Amino acid sequence: MSKQVRKAVFPAGGLGTRFLPATKVIPKEMLALVDKPLIQYGVEEAIDSGIEHIIIVTSRGKGAMEDHFDHSFELNAALERKGKHELLAVSRGVSSLAQISYVRQKEPLGLGHAVLCAKDLVGDEPFAVILPDDVIDAEVPCLKQMIGIFDERGCSVLATQTVEGPAISAYGVLIGSQDPDNERIYNCTGMVEKPKFEDAPSKQAIIGRYVLTPRIFELLEQTTPGAGGEIQLTDGIRALLKEEKVLGYTFEGKRFDAGDKLGMLQATVEFALERSDLGPPFRAYLKGLAL
Ligand code: UTP
Repeated sequence: MSKQVRKAVFPAGGLGTRFLPATKVIPKEMLALVDKPLIQYGVEEAIDSGIEHIIIVTSRGKGAMEDHFDHSFELNAALERKGKHELLAVSRGVSSLAQISYVRQKEPLGLGHAVLCAKDLVGDEPFAVILPDDVIDAEVPCLKQMIGIFDERGCSVLATQTVEGPAISAYGVLIGSQDPDNERIYNCTGMVEKPKFEDAPSKQAIIGRYVLTPRIFELLEQTTPGAGGEIQLTDGIRALLKEEKVLGYTFEGKRFDAGDKLGMLQATVEFALERSDLGPPFRAYLKGLAL
């Protein structure tokens, strides 16, 4: 079994109902954040973290993702003809980003089920899971930070962020204690899915980045559908916790929930402001608004 994290799974088989009607035809993962589809941010993060093989879990009607990462012969020929060399480089760059495999999830039976669909492509080695609608702005890519912890400790790592107040009820929340040697690490003994604020066992909320050992696949196979008839990834991780060490890791960086309308708007504003081409005129525009 390879001990290196070489593969990343992108569950993108969900229905994206929170973004209807935009997502009736267009996959949520293809919605643009400024000028790049959400999933491309995750794919670039994976590549910048040393991942060699990307596995995207798709579903019916989500072929646009495959086309996006493929060569677009007509587009490239047209850009070449028109002498638009910079745009041609952008188009070619997208299709040569990484080795990408696709696997279909035939029914949206939950995040755990989507991860399980990638079992044969991952094989018997540790791997990463990236939820494409969690976009993370970080100096060192979030996944790279997590792989660093995996390499050091040799166990599964879940990205977390500290969430204050009732907002914690939207997350899976860790039970456990802070690691004595590293204040960013949380030694996990359990987890609860979407607890009431008063019942939350900690402020450590799980977000959409995971490094997991392959044992999770067997445990997901044994997991019975939970909330909403779906196979939950957190149920699989809860079973993993009983057998292996699992760590929470408070990553350095800022996460946006771009699968949610408000989160997408916040990400759009912040990513646009950071851009050298758009930032200055956009800032001037925002300052001129009577807010
Ligand atoms: P979400 O719950 O955020 O996505 O799942 P969703 O179900 O598509 O969206 P809403 O809630 O209806 O708006 C997180 C990630 O897991 C994937 C989604 O595509 C998303 O990237 N997912 C979810 C699957 O791949 N399969 C599933 O059965 C469920």
